[in-house]
Amino acid sequence: MSICGLDFGTSNSTVGVEHQQQSQMVPLEHDSHSGKFETTLPSALFFDFETDDIYFGRQAIELYSRGEFGRLMRSMKSILGSKNMDEGTQIKHKRYAFNDIIGFFMASLKQRAEDYTQQTLESVVLGRPVHFNDDHPDLDLAAQNRMADIAHSVGFKQVSFQFEPIAAAYDYEQQVDKEELALIIDIGGGTSDFTLIKLSKQNRLKSQRDDDLLANHGIHIGGTDFDRHLSMATVMPHFGLNSCYIDKPTLKMPRHYYVDLATWHRIHLLYEANILRDISELARESQDKKAMLRLGQLLKNKQGHRLAASVEQAKIELSQYNETSIDLSYLLSLESNGSIEEPLQSEVSQLDLANSIESDVNKVFTAIDDTLIQAGLKASQIDTLFTTGGSTALPSVKKLISQKFSHAKWVSGDLFNSVGKGLLLDAQRRYS
Ligand SMILES: Nc1ncnc2c1ncn2[C@@H]1O[C@H](COP(=O)(O)OP(=O)(O)OP(=O)(O)O)[C@@H](O)[C@H]1O
Ligand SMILES: [Mg+2]
Repeated sequence: MSICGLDFGTSNSTVGVEHQQQSQMVPLEHDSHSGKFETTLPSALFFDFETDDIYFGRQAIELYSRGEFGRLMRSMKSILGSKNMDEGTQIKHKRYAFNDIIGFFMASLKQRAEDYTQQTLESVVLGRPVHFNDDHPDLDLAAQNRMADIAHSVGFKQVSFQFEPIAAAYDYEQQVDKEELALIIDIGGGTSDFTLIKLSKQNRLKSQRDDDLLANHGIHIGGTDFDRHLSMATVMPHFGLNSCYIDKPTLKMPRHYYVDLATWHRIHLLYEANILRDISELARESQDKKAMLRLGQLLKNKQGHRLAASVEQAKIELSQYNETSIDLSYLLSLESNGSIEEPLQSEVSQLDLANSIESDVNKVFTAIDDTLIQAGLKASQIDTLFTTGGSTALPSVKKLISQKFSHAKWVSGDLFNSVGKGLLLDAQRRYS
């Protein structure tokens, strides 16, 4: 019986397997830019309307970016646990349930891993955030049940779950010698999750770790929220956010269109015909007609994900550089007088990003405080801080971590693979 650990992430997914007597992360996709096989598969699907094929990962994003005729879906995990879980979406002539869409993606992950190991994978430990939904335990349970159903539907026979930060802790524990009190911080694309746990070499093989676990907590804030805030602060004004009605000069354009356009898993809702009609009506009523026409063009050409990707790209660059620009040159469109408008560009700095995400980052750190409170511990009592998840690379997050835990040993894990590696360790413990 073959086992695996599967981390279905909001932004990236990974699969850990046993292959040739070794624990390995599956090289899931060839990246034409780096020329290497990567162990992450971006959690994205592209439904090609010409061929009716479905593509996944980088290839899906690439096809969409090239302007192929079809539909991109990203951040599907954010729909799990939300009230929209049952809604589904229209793709070409067919209405799909979100279960089906996530199922296509999970089936592709499984197939890629099986092609690699040349074995059928039957037992899986799936990662899950501490909360799929922060406020409604019933929706949280429904999300986990849904994931289990999907895993069974793609052919897994044994399905169990582990919290993502606990999995990351198991990955880190591989390098621990003497007992440590560790705080695991996993800030990903959709959620921030924390575990306070006693780790040691001798406890690694124990099947029951309840006595070592001191706290487990999480909050539904992650990199896709940071993308939304940066987008609302920098690019959405180019599309009419904050512009007012001609005949009601203090009343602004409806904000919800912009929030949806800046939210990865809600972008597709704006491509409906009635929304396009609403936007062109608003263009006639707005003081900033040009910006509203630009919004209409963007939606008509289904460029919403491309816009979100430009913002995300700028956010990532700001982990390395003080300033960068959000490239919007592909949005060249006709002005109302028929001439081509100037290429758009939005300059952004680390400070702009830090300001736009400050409130959410503070909520993440309040949740970290709550994790300590749950365990009855102070920050100064933590021996080791282990960080993973792409959003722990953000400068403002790093600064707060180093201020708050200045005395602790800080181990920065593999940002994208720690959870998957830990899920495999858990699968080996449970199923072997
Ligand atoms: N260098 C970077 N600086 C800032 N953010 C980054 C960087 N690299 C990636 N990210 C962000 O990290 C997020 C993805 O991280 P990760 O792959 O850990 O999330 P995930 O596991 O898919 O999500 P989740 O665990 O919440 O379901 C994205 O929002 C991405 O924009
Ligand atoms: Mg993750």
